[in-house]
Amino acid sequence: MTQKTSALNNKNTSWSGRFNEPVAELVKKYTASIGFDYRLAAFDIQGSLAHAQMLGAQKIISLDDVQAIEAGLAEILQEIEAGQFEWLLDLEDVHLNIEKRLTDKIGDAGKRLHTGRSRNDQVATDVRLWLRATTDQVIAGLKKLQLSLLDLADAHFDTVMPGFTHLQVAQPVTFGHHLMAYVEMLGRDGQRFADCRRRINHLPLGAAALAGTSYPIDRALVAKKLGFDGVCENSLDAVSDRDFAIEFTFAASLVMTHLSRLSEELILWSSPRFAFVDIADRFCTGSSIMPQKKNPDVPELVRGKTGRVYGHLTALLTLMKGQPLAYNKDNQEDKEPLFDTADTLLVTLEIYADMMRGITVNKDKMRQAASEGFATATDLADYLAKKGMPFRDAHEVVALAVRYAVDQKVALSDLPLGKLQQFAAEISDDVYAVLTLEGSLNSRNHIGGTAPAQVKAAIARARATL
Ligand code: ARG
Repeated sequence: MTQKTSALNNKNTSWSGRFNEPVAELVKKYTASIGFDYRLAAFDIQGSLAHAQMLGAQKIISLDDVQAIEAGLAEILQEIEAGQFEWLLDLEDVHLNIEKRLTDKIGDAGKRLHTGRSRNDQVATDVRLWLRATTDQVIAGLKKLQLSLLDLADAHFDTVMPGFTHLQVAQPVTFGHHLMAYVEMLGRDGQRFADCRRRINHLPLGAAALAGTSYPIDRALVAKKLGFDGVCENSLDAVSDRDFAIEFTFAASLVMTHLSRLSEELILWSSPRFAFVDIADRFCTGSSIMPQKKNPDVPELVRGKTGRVYGHLTALLTLMKGQPLAYNKDNQEDKEPLFDTADTLLVTLEIYADMMRGITVNKDKMRQAASEGFATATDLADYLAKKGMPFRDAHEVVALAVRYAVDQKVALSDLPLGKLQQFAAEISDDVYAVLTLEGSLNSRNHIGGTAPAQVKAAIARARATL
């Protein structure tokens, strides 16, 4: 849909009767929303069709009028889709632009469309219809990314890497297990959008300007035609609250939070200092001055754009907080943050799903890092505790052994049995199985643990739910 705006001369057709002088040019520009709300056009037409058909069914307007409206709106939709529709700044917003064009085409029938309706319930309906469709796209995008992560996790269900706390090597985990953590996060994100969708999916139309309308309307019929689960049950609430938009933006903020964390990891891991992974060249750029550079631009931008989405959430919350009931023009400001949130999120999900398919893993580097940081020290403490030593004492014994190994610049598993036994007499030669990376991984064999068998099972469960 292309967007053209142009200033028509100053006769404003929708409400100018009351005014003695034309609206100032700058004010027109300041108050118009057509520069961005043209995106709602298809949904505006969908809502108008349902409204007109209901007016006809209730004998509020004639069936001839309904037919004329249907034909006119169909033509207008075609014009918009073909990029031939001229959006006029003088007509303020998407609603008045379409209504004026309809009236130009079909005359009085077009003027009857607005019977029993206000732009206040109209815009709330349009935004909900748009957001419902967008939410479905987001849910699909989340699934696609989860599938891409699952495939990578599958390929690395037993690839050893160091697990970190405080960014210090903590215990060995598998790369598959690490990736499955994000699959879980995105799964909850999907649930949040599905839940948010239930609250989006109620019909404001019928609330009219704020108090309802004196025409014998059938709101349930309009709701059914538009696929809403029900009607907004208080007219003041219907036209004024944008909590559903805030909720969507919050859910989007959390997705961005999750992807920002993964981005931070990809940035670290792809740095030559870590060299755990390589991001495909098509997601990176070089430097104009340093020939050796390959910069992880996409993850960096995801991390950066997370702040942008948080900003939209703050904007929407702040937009709402001071508004007395019911509709205020402030609400026109809901659209740009909401549109940009959706655009940012959808493209981020798409590019991320692709990027994860372009990740190659340096297994040797991961394994080496896992074996260097005393990652199996906890396993040695657990080993002693299982032999009867209280865990706190075992922890202390192992701490002393680690200090010794650090001084000697060797790994725990390099210490001879006799040396280990100086720290604890309980240690026998079965200790070496415990000190290996695989021994450590395989021992964590319960639901949620990092044992490769458990990671396999977690992947299978996740696949079944997708
Ligand atoms: N463009 C307006 C918006 O986005 C439509 C509703 C205007 N209603 C009004 N009474 N001025 O909110």
